[in-house]
Amino acid sequence: MIVKSFRLRLALMYLSVVVFIFSVFVVVLDLRYRKDLLETVDKDILRAAREETLRGSEQQPLSESAEIIKKLGDEYYEFVNRNGVVLMTNLGNEYRWPLNKDLASLAFNGVYRFETIKFRGGDYRLLYFPISADNILRIGEPLEDMHKAIGGLERLLLFFFPFVLGVSALVSWVLAGKSVDPVITIKSLAEEIRHGRLDRRIDIGLKGREIDDLVAVFNAMLDSIQHSVEARDRFTSDVSHEIRSPLTSLRGSIEVMLRKKRTSEEYEDLLRNNLSDIIRLSKIAENLLFFARADSHTLELRKRSVDVNEVLKGVVDSVSYEGLSLVEKYQDNVIMSADGDLLSQAFSNLITNAVKYTPQGGTVTVATEREEDAIKVTISDTGIGIPEDEIPHIFERFYRVDRERSRKTGGTGLGLAITYLIISAHNGRIMVKSKLNSGSSFIITFPIKTSQEGQQGQNVKDGTGAFSVSGGPT
Ligand SMILES: Nc1ncnc2c1ncn2[C@@H]1O[C@H](COP(=O)(O)OP(=O)(O)O)[C@@H](O)[C@H]1O
Ligand SMILES: [Mg+2]
Repeated sequence: MIVKSFRLRLALMYLSVVVFIFSVFVVVLDLRYRKDLLETVDKDILRAAREETLRGSEQQPLSESAEIIKKLGDEYYEFVNRNGVVLMTNLGNEYRWPLNKDLASLAFNGVYRFETIKFRGGDYRLLYFPISADNILRIGEPLEDMHKAIGGLERLLLFFFPFVLGVSALVSWVLAGKSVDPVITIKSLAEEIRHGRLDRRIDIGLKGREIDDLVAVFNAMLDSIQHSVEARDRFTSDVSHEIRSPLTSLRGSIEVMLRKKRTSEEYEDLLRNNLSDIIRLSKIAENLLFFARADSHTLELRKRSVDVNEVLKGVVDSVSYEGLSLVEKYQDNVIMSADGDLLSQAFSNLITNAVKYTPQGGTVTVATEREEDAIKVTISDTGIGIPEDEIPHIFERFYRVDRERSRKTGGTGLGLAITYLIISAHNGRIMVKSKLNSGSSFIITFPIKTSQEGQQGQNVKDGTGAFSVSGGPT
């Protein structure tokens, strides 16, 4: 039979354990009680036999044993000689016990023994006791009283059995219910969560470590699901927002233009204005495509041996530093296997940020360092800095510390997200140190392992784990 309900299964398990223990208890008790009673009976018989022997040593003739009969009380006895002749008995002839020859001969040799016999429908306990070289005493008593006592105990236990069964069934059911309780709680919460309540969590504590561990893992899983769902929703709304504003501006300007005939200069102006919106749109589309590739693990790295200094110099040359000073510190021997184009894009995002977020008169520093098993690239500025609590977010897609200010500076909030993906794809780490109003440093380290050379189509993972953050002064 297959029991479907886990609670019932548990309850049956508890119950069978209780029943088993109770049965063992009953059997042990019964055996023990029987043994004790039999020992008492044996002691009685033996005492009676000893008293009789004592009389024998006092040279009392056996025929004058009327007194002995009284003394022996409940016990039945007979004196037997070697020839099997009964010398004296208080049993009627019809009550002659069968003679156990082995025990009799042992007794003639001075060793006493007990036996239990069935006689005329009753049990008797019988002692073969040595008296002299020629005489032995067979003395015994019915076990009726003992059987009555045992029967009484067995009836008592039997009477208790249904009671024990009932109570343990009830307790088992309640206990099983308690054990299953947390599972039911988890199930109903999971049900709620399935219907969209992603913010619900299960309480930890009081249910025992195993369940708590499960709940903790479950809650952590929910955290990450909620996090990704929220990120997805935010991303979708950010994308629509970013696309809508250039589209609105395109549509507005075209509509205005079309109201009447315009000169060719005016059309040219319009097209020129439109072009910047279109560039912005295609830039967004390009970035989205990049994320899509990275998210679906189809971002392909065209790796070759790359001199990081050369890549940086190329980027540095393509940026204008009006009103800023540029400091370059390059160390030799910074060659690694990498996708040069992607690397250049990552550095370009960081350097343009440094320029964008540094007021006139400030300094942008670009540096490389060769460490024993890593290449370190530092891009720092003396600019506006990033508030400490914003640092963990700046690598998120569309995230900008100050949306208004950044829109004026023309960003989309995607640059660092892309940078992060590119650096992760190269097994690198990016660390941010920043202090508000005094500057920021982005420190990238690439481990150099020769075994990774030439690897293609590397998987890219997005997440918040691969960069560390420090808010201290630069
Ligand atoms: N060097 C920097 N100094 C100050 N703030 C920065 C710097 N780099 C990035 N940030 C902040 O991080 C945000 C995200 O950067 P990024 O992803 O490149 O987007 P954006 O398109 O706005 O430049 C920026 O909007 C800005 O608030
Ligand atoms: Mg940027």
